[in-house]
Amino acid sequence: MSAVRHFLRDDDLTPAEQAEVLDLAETMKKDRFAHRPFEGPKTVAVLFDKHSTRTRVSFAVGIAELGGQPLIIDAGGSQMGRGEPVEDTARVLSRQVAAIVWRTFGQDRIEAMASASAVPVVNALTDEFHPCQILADLLTVRERRGTLAGQTLTYLGDGANNMAHSYLLGGATAGMHVRVAAPAAYQPDALILNRAAEIAATTGGSVTVLTDPAAAAAGTHVLATDTWVSMGQDGKDERAAALMPYQVNSELAGLAAPDVIVLHCLPAYRGLEITAELIDGPRSVVWDQAENRLHAQKALLHWLVAR
Ligand code: CP
Ligand code: NVA
Repeated sequence: MSAVRHFLRDDDLTPAEQAEVLDLAETMKKDRFAHRPFEGPKTVAVLFDKHSTRTRVSFAVGIAELGGQPLIIDAGGSQMGRGEPVEDTARVLSRQVAAIVWRTFGQDRIEAMASASAVPVVNALTDEFHPCQILADLLTVRERRGTLAGQTLTYLGDGANNMAHSYLLGGATAGMHVRVAAPAAYQPDALILNRAAEIAATTGGSVTVLTDPAAAAAGTHVLATDTWVSMGQDGKDERAAALMPYQVNSELAGLAAPDVIVLHCLPAYRGLEITAELIDGPRSVVWDQAENRLHAQKALLHWLVAR
């Protein structure tokens, strides 16, 4: 039997493996109820230390569609919420479930879970990464543009958050040219940026960090942004003042490729990181993107658990 695999950050999948998961997602999306590898049923625990709409729904629906049973646990109701060690939780869950999906705070917590787990652990968002979202985003870009390698994706806004880091790693893995535009105080973690550059060197992609939003938007195929205040952060006014020049609006979109598509992982704050005109306009693919969480995660779980 092959060693247990986890998906804790985007570079836990090699370029070939990422493509395999995206191909599987495309196949499963075409015939949504035909793939039931979790029949039996296998149970998947889905744990939340933070709020969620899309992640909660897409994992619950997806696990059921795979023929399995989702077990949704909110941190407040578990013993972890009262201080039971993460590792002990992993050992207990591993004896009963086929996989553990967790949305939590620090990446160190999900690494601790994986270190003691005998079943795959999946990152459903940490402070550092949101890799399931990026799989859905890549699926969406591939559907719209036919390919990922060689496409330019520009992320504007908080360059130090989980989405920015995951675009860097996941986009580089896919051979994309990833540009992140952010003020100096909101730029990506240097270690993650270096790792993304290392991956890009093997895939023909590239990673670039800029402070100039117009230069970052010029000619790009994909414009992406995210909230300026991630869960667990404060200082909304200060952040909004610093990040306003990076708002995704018609002026910046006008500099992009004429057929640019606009991504936002949601929830969105219209008038802050993106204008209503852009997110509700013809270039926006955000509803496909939200639906693709379902297809991408079904494929990922299938790949991790029932390969
Ligand atoms: N995009 C995303 O992860 O949404 P939720 O926070 O609603 O799960
Ligand atoms: N960066 C955001 C993503 C929400 C899906 C957050 O962490 O709150």
